[in-house]
Amino acid sequence: MELKKTLIAAAVLATLATLGPAAERMGKTDVRVQRHEAVASLHERESRIAWWRESKFGMFIHWGIYSLPAGEWNGRSYPGIGEWIMYKARIPLADYEQLARQFNPVKFDAEAWAQLAQDAGMKYLVITSKHHDGFAMFGSKADAFNIVDATPFRRDPMKELATACAKRGIRFGFYYSQAQDWHSPGGAIWEGPHETDPVWKQPQWDPRQEGSFETYFNSKAIPQVREILSNYGPISIVWFDTPLDVMNAERAARLEKVVHELQPGCLVSGRLGGTSQSDYDSEGDNVIPDLARAGAWETPATLNDTWGFKKDDHNWKKPEDLTFKLVDIVSKGGNYLLNVGPDGDGVIPQPSQDMLRVVGRWLKVNGEAIYGAGRSPFGEEFGAFSKTQKGDDGKPLFKPSMAWRCTTKPGRIYIHVFQWPAGPLALPGLKHKVLKAAFLADPERTVSFKQTASGVVVSLPGPAPDPIASVVRIDISNDILKSK
Ligand code: GLC
Repeated sequence: MELKKTLIAAAVLATLATLGPAAERMGKTDVRVQRHEAVASLHERESRIAWWRESKFGMFIHWGIYSLPAGEWNGRSYPGIGEWIMYKARIPLADYEQLARQFNPVKFDAEAWAQLAQDAGMKYLVITSKHHDGFAMFGSKADAFNIVDATPFRRDPMKELATACAKRGIRFGFYYSQAQDWHSPGGAIWEGPHETDPVWKQPQWDPRQEGSFETYFNSKAIPQVREILSNYGPISIVWFDTPLDVMNAERAARLEKVVHELQPGCLVSGRLGGTSQSDYDSEGDNVIPDLARAGAWETPATLNDTWGFKKDDHNWKKPEDLTFKLVDIVSKGGNYLLNVGPDGDGVIPQPSQDMLRVVGRWLKVNGEAIYGAGRSPFGEEFGAFSKTQKGDDGKPLFKPSMAWRCTTKPGRIYIHVFQWPAGPLALPGLKHKVLKAAFLADPERTVSFKQTASGVVVSLPGPAPDPIASVVRIDISNDILKSK
């Protein structure tokens, strides 16, 4: 709570600093009103996002009619992410519409999907309501190219999923591609790296794509965002994506207003466009920062190399790796939004299910060190910048270390040990008085510690109680982040 107040105060000061010159031109009352509004909106944002900061781990779902070709078109398989098949294979609109006529995911089971999220220990779920291909996976009055009107399935899977999530206390959210729309006239199309690849030369590939973005924005994007916020109960997040330059500050503000008018508690993701309308930052796809990051941020990530289902992508990550990434992200102050790509029948690939359940089992024992936990007070455990090698960006290369990570709660630190040390583990610089240390996975086992002038040394009597990561809970005399 204290930390939150400090954060709010710091943000308010930053906002007021930007008002400086303007404030000189305004009367005292105007300044007071502005100050009041800045404080109110920061408070609003802070209270809106509180649940998300606690949740840490969410499920992303990319599902659409692209799950049917699954990376292959006319006998040729296309590299890269599966939900971009229409773009990559330059599929004419009339041909792409045929996919909708074949889309009949009769094995879709909302209960099973929500149950998987729960088993994995995920607290929120964000699913593609419309991706860049323009196809709405919900019943839409604003555009007939949607799952209820254009497929033999005729059901609205989003209604079923919203209900199944609500039953389990999982917060339900929608991805919505607000700028790119390859199916509607005027929808934006990414221009791609045309200098190097002749296939990308022409962003449009079908005359039906021509039109005005403003018209598309007003006649499809805004009405559909209204629909997803009106017909599915409480929506926790609208996850906008690839704003491109069409989503300028004015349009971003308009869209943000639509969201918050309909559902004031709904979060707006980091890729809305504009500048400051988002509630949190989105890292790049699969990007985890090297070091701890201030503010509210999230890493969206894949289980293999695609978001939408691809039949020949079997490059699955390991559950140990996923657990490490979850801990790593939380220890740096972020959230992990981890994707599954159900197939054209509506089934989440078995390897995805298996991996997520392993992570969920680890969380059942160690969740105390994740949910609601804060970032590490240390930093040296993340690794170090190389003194000699440089990365592609010309900056010193970061060499991560994977031995251990730390998360925090008031009066407690949690050491997640991934590489079991041969000797005791040193926590340099820990000056707080240590009161007690114990394994979450084996609370009865004695963990002894020695407090010296330079820090604390914890002896870990082997073997590791958890094959993935053993968490030592250390009770200390004070709130470590507060006194940092
Ligand atoms: C990218 C892609 C997209 C995917 C998203 C997930 O921006 O365009 O296909 O939905 O990242 O983070």
